[in-house]
Amino acid sequence: MVRAVAEQEQQLRAALADVMHAAGVESARELLSTRSRVVQDFPRFVRVNTLLISKEKAVAQFQHDGFTLCQRKEQESNGARWGGMQTRQLKRGEFIEDEHLSDLLVFGPGTDLHDHALVEKAAVILQDKASCFPAHALAASQGSQVIDACAAPGNKTSHVAASLSGSGKVFAFDLNPRRLKLMKARLKQARAVNVEARMADFLKVSTDDPAYARVEFILLDPSCSGSGMWGTQGLSEEADEGADESRLQGLAEFQLQALLHAFKFPAVRRISYSTCSIHDEENEHVVEAALKADPRWKLQRCLPQWHRRGNPKIEGAENCVRVDPEGDMMNGFFVACFERDAPILAPMPDQTTKGTHKVDRSKNAPDSKYQKRKAMGWVSEPTAIDTEDSSTSTAAVVIKAPAKKKRKKNRQGIT
Ligand SMILES: C[S@@+](CC[C@H](N)C(=O)[O-])C[C@H]1O[C@@H](n2cnc3c(N)ncnc32)[C@H](O)[C@@H]1O
Repeated sequence: MVRAVAEQEQQLRAALADVMHAAGVESARELLSTRSRVVQDFPRFVRVNTLLISKEKAVAQFQHDGFTLCQRKEQESNGARWGGMQTRQLKRGEFIEDEHLSDLLVFGPGTDLHDHALVEKAAVILQDKASCFPAHALAASQGSQVIDACAAPGNKTSHVAASLSGSGKVFAFDLNPRRLKLMKARLKQARAVNVEARMADFLKVSTDDPAYARVEFILLDPSCSGSGMWGTQGLSEEADEGADESRLQGLAEFQLQALLHAFKFPAVRRISYSTCSIHDEENEHVVEAALKADPRWKLQRCLPQWHRRGNPKIEGAENCVRVDPEGDMMNGFFVACFERDAPILAPMPDQTTKGTHKVDRSKNAPDSKYQKRKAMGWVSEPTAIDTEDSSTSTAAVVIKAPAKKKRKKNRQGIT
């Protein structure tokens, strides 16, 4: 164990420096005191890495190790199925199967699993529930090709890889070499063999490159302010007033650019856009500006069983998902899911007839896993595939962060 830690020392130090930077603290001690104060009441979410173990086996292993599996009680709240109350009542050492995500287990607050053998083997991954939403919202079809545009350190990448059951391919890009290295190591450990990780600036990845002509799904989880991360900027309005407006605006501009770039990949039919920010500027405003720039894309109602939706003041935002740390006991998060009416189906090497673009409709048909998710209410009908070609508007849209005093966090719907 000690040797293993020593071997990873450099990576661990780098990861710690990242977390401290994001949290705006100077020392690990400061970080711990901030986090321990607020994180202690949160349940512990554990994603089963189905590339390595089935949920049934993981559950049996935890029970064998002395953890108690509680029966899930279902409750009705706000018209959505939401058993948050039961999650609140879980005690240390108790766990339930998550009510929304089929590959997630929820343990009582204070349960420490860091040293558990399943965690060490990456058979289960300690991953916040909200951070598991994008891969579920994306609902990539079995055998399909996916781009994870800003992928490192790769939690969502390995989740997408698992959702494909190791089939198809995930192109994972990141421009930070250190984070990329960490991601590669994690993907290897998670046995995500269907991932091709590359150091690349996603904005410079050519949408005409034949290598990506078959990509149908994009997961875009770009750099953001991290304002939803509990224990980083905190949740108080006072703390939020200190957020740097110009940084926020810069991030929003990058997020929009990345989204518009994702819109241009020829065969893409669904995109999941997410941030761990609570600011409208990085969330609904980006979505709004992107739809304005390219009206062929529409918002799909993602994760319809989830109760907390986007800012109602913004048109269409009820299709988006919000997570509020206080109300939902996990990090603040936002997810929007886009579908295109008419994918620009680029000629594919083995499908091209001169002058026409042929589509293999059977490939685009929803697979059984998709149908299952749809039956569970997690996704809605995929958009019909059309063969029409058209170009994508790249009109520059500038997002303006409102004046500091006016900007408020989106706390609508908090109970
Ligand atoms: C929020 S993190 C991604 C977290 C990741 N999705 C996960 O779940 O583990 C954003 C990542 O985007 C990367 N990034 C920022 N700008 C990028 C760009 N232009 N192209 C590719 N990656 C970028 C950063 O290096 C960072 O690793």
